[in-house]
Amino acid sequence: MHQLRSSKVLVLDFGAQYAQLIARRIREHHVFSEIVSSEITAQEIKEKAPIAIVLSGGPKSVNVDGAPRVDKAIYDLGIPILGICYGAQLIASDLGGEVSSGLSGEYGKTELVLSNHGQICEGLRSSSTVWMSHFDSVTKLPDGFNLLASTKEAYGAAFESPSRGIYAVQFHPEVEHSEFGSKIFENFLHVIVGADSSWTSYSIIEDSISRIKEQVGDEHVICALSGGVDSSVAAALVHRAIGDQLHCVFVDTGLMRHGEAEIVERTFREQFEIDLISVDASDEYFNDLAGVTDPERKRKLIGERFIRIFEKTARDIKGAKYLVQGTLYPDVIESGTKSAARIKSHHNVGGLPDDMDFELVEPLRELFKDEVRAVGSELGLPDTIVWRQPFPGPGLAVRIVGEVTRERAEIVRDADRIVQEEFAKSDLDHRAIWQAFAVLADIRSVGVMGDERSYAYPIILRAVESSDAMTADWARLPYDLLERISSRIVAEVGGVNRVVYDITSKPPATIEWE
Ligand code: XMP
Repeated sequence: MHQLRSSKVLVLDFGAQYAQLIARRIREHHVFSEIVSSEITAQEIKEKAPIAIVLSGGPKSVNVDGAPRVDKAIYDLGIPILGICYGAQLIASDLGGEVSSGLSGEYGKTELVLSNHGQICEGLRSSSTVWMSHFDSVTKLPDGFNLLASTKEAYGAAFESPSRGIYAVQFHPEVEHSEFGSKIFENFLHVIVGADSSWTSYSIIEDSISRIKEQVGDEHVICALSGGVDSSVAAALVHRAIGDQLHCVFVDTGLMRHGEAEIVERTFREQFEIDLISVDASDEYFNDLAGVTDPERKRKLIGERFIRIFEKTARDIKGAKYLVQGTLYPDVIESGTKSAARIKSHHNVGGLPDDMDFELVEPLRELFKDEVRAVGSELGLPDTIVWRQPFPGPGLAVRIVGEVTRERAEIVRDADRIVQEEFAKSDLDHRAIWQAFAVLADIRSVGVMGDERSYAYPIILRAVESSDAMTADWARLPYDLLERISSRIVAEVGGVNRVVYDITSKPPATIEWE
């Protein structure tokens, strides 16, 4: 078996989104971190042998019935512990201090006043800004703990017991608004715990290569390439590990963006010399979609067609036993726990027929998106792929309201090309915009071009800022950029005589139109 990494920090998850951000911050300090449920027992923790434990924030009050607790034996494992927000209150409550409810809480930027640096607050100014989000406060420290800092409403804003290896902060060091947040992690990880900085793109790649080799041996592996970041990085990693044993399949649906098929072919076939089977299936897709206007029906047809083509192509690759999947760490953490209503049935690779029982190779299973990008760059993938905006599995079909035809796909692809070109030319920070694209509506309006009346489709421009696509805000784009995009689309794209800008956030809208 592959040896597990020796240096890992366990982040105990008490709910809300705090644990993921904490885990990412720890990794930004080049230390591997893993999120586990707060129900983990001390014995299970011992078996995982982490170098440190972080108790995350959470939405509950430690004083109410049903609030998540930890196995108290973790405090005696001899593994350093950092409690953050709810985690800090849990430490106080479990070890004989007091947490009071009903005082006035603090939300947002708050002044932290330091009385003692101790170990965890080493390097902080006597007064600094921290990000708070709490209703309860630690009003009495457990015996043996030193008070380090307070805020107006939180007596125990930072406290520690170095002899027990337990540290606690009420504020959120993982949030950028906490001025010395990064310093808190550095103090904890590198000074107190003594972790080395071995989690880097290079080490991720080395580690993945040996895992992949060990998993697949001499067998052959198939990968469905979509041209997106995840499948591209996964393919490049697997190729680095097993070379010619990897066979990639790229299905050109006719619903890709401008130049996409060419970039995939150039990058993977020419640059990486990967065995790439490219299938032009656009006729099949447009036949399936003829006359279909219902968004869910479109998604379903596209998903089914993909599976049929992939199945047929994969059967020709004799003896392949494994299938690469670009599953990321947030999918692993969240799968099974989501009870949200289904808004759209997402189409990704999956749902293959039962008799095609591939074993999965998931080289990105432990990685966050930013780590996937860093690995992709390190492997030599071009920026056009590594920094590509998310693009939905069903492609342009969900950006064509109404019937999807080859002609209408051409219109939206052309308009989208202009959007991409103008964004690339502008000096906007491309990382600030999550997605920017064109949507084709199924209404027409009257216009005047030259002296002629026109009656044509509008293009809807959509540009959003987001950090995870769960919520999004429409981007406040400069007027001159909007103007250039609008005039070019109307002048250059046949069948379009108007451009409108979508100024709706998510929620209540979604990012894509279908
Ligand atoms: P919505 O429209 O639901 O989209 O706000 C959220 C994010 O998901 C992308 N998206 C998809 N991604 N398969 C995917 O892999 C899909 O079927 C799909 N539909 C939407 C969308 O582009 C946005 O980033």
